[in-house]
Amino acid sequence: GKYRVVSTKPMPGTRWINLLIDQDCRVEICTQKKTILSVEDIIALIGDKCDGVIGQLTEDWGETLFAALSRAGGKAFSNMAVGYNNVDVNAANKYGVAVGNTPGVLTETTAELAASLSLAAARRIVEADEFMRAGLYDGWLPHLFVGNLLKGQTVGVIGAGRIGSAYARMMVIFLLPYGQFLKANGEQPVTWKRASSMDEVLREADLISLHPVLDKTTYHLVNKERLAMMKKEAILINCSRGPVIDEVALVEHLKHNPMFRVGLDVFEDEPYMKPGLAEMKNAIVVPHIASGSKWTREGMATLAALNVLGKIKGYPIWGDSNRVEPFLNENAPPPA
Ligand code: GLV
Ligand code: GLV
Repeated sequence: GKYRVVSTKPMPGTRWINLLIDQDCRVEICTQKKTILSVEDIIALIGDKCDGVIGQLTEDWGETLFAALSRAGGKAFSNMAVGYNNVDVNAANKYGVAVGNTPGVLTETTAELAASLSLAAARRIVEADEFMRAGLYDGWLPHLFVGNLLKGQTVGVIGAGRIGSAYARMMVIFLLPYGQFLKANGEQPVTWKRASSMDEVLREADLISLHPVLDKTTYHLVNKERLAMMKKEAILINCSRGPVIDEVALVEHLKHNPMFRVGLDVFEDEPYMKPGLAEMKNAIVVPHIASGSKWTREGMATLAALNVLGKIKGYPIWGDSNRVEPFLNENAPPPA
């Protein structure tokens, strides 16, 4: 292979590897056992010559790594993720490295996890499962694991982009009386409303799912004050990024409001949880698996490979499909 492409992790499927190999690339996959690679580990992987890197959301792609990649002749980096809060795009620009992400292929898979957590939280599925396995079930009771009925409730979506919109479409069927679907009277069965403010969503919704991008404007978007605005029996779902919620404030809120429930796929100090969270019965916690379907993960790997390959070969990288420009960092210099 004429070009050297490094992947910091083994990725699902073989398509992404074959794409690269067929186009004159030698692919090197890091097989280190540790889950999260340090900046030093990645500098060692980049070495003296590296044309492009496929990296992961657990890695800190800042000034140091883009400088190292640029020194090695690298022109392209792709995150195998739609979120790129782990990537300093300005630093990439400075070193002439184009940056891609993997939008689109994970939209429905991620929204389906948010929907799963919503239903699981509403009906207390995880608590009930633990109860069964602990041998505590000794007969049906009228008040055993009573939860929330979604029909007729209000669902709030904060961050109504690709994933948030897909989630809203999925949840609609739970909110409506079944008759609405059976009647073919052409009536619009759903009331969609663009809220005038986030606080309005927090106050009015029975179930809220968070899908914003993490940046300076969304850090601790859900804080102590905003938790206090929510209904006492509301459900909060987060499949975006952990720091969107002030997790310490959330633990306090869960302690004082036993009927308030959360479903979390992401955490502020991933892979750790803030003290107390793991003990809360009114929290469902899963390890950042929202994009985890086979189809999606293979798709993400393929897109990430195409991003890097495209830049090396001089055709547009995928980038973020919401943008007109094919690059996340539009100003990256064209290939020499
Ligand atoms: C996963 O969290 C992603 O951003 O793709
Ligand atoms: C519950 O199982 C019922 O039959 O009402």
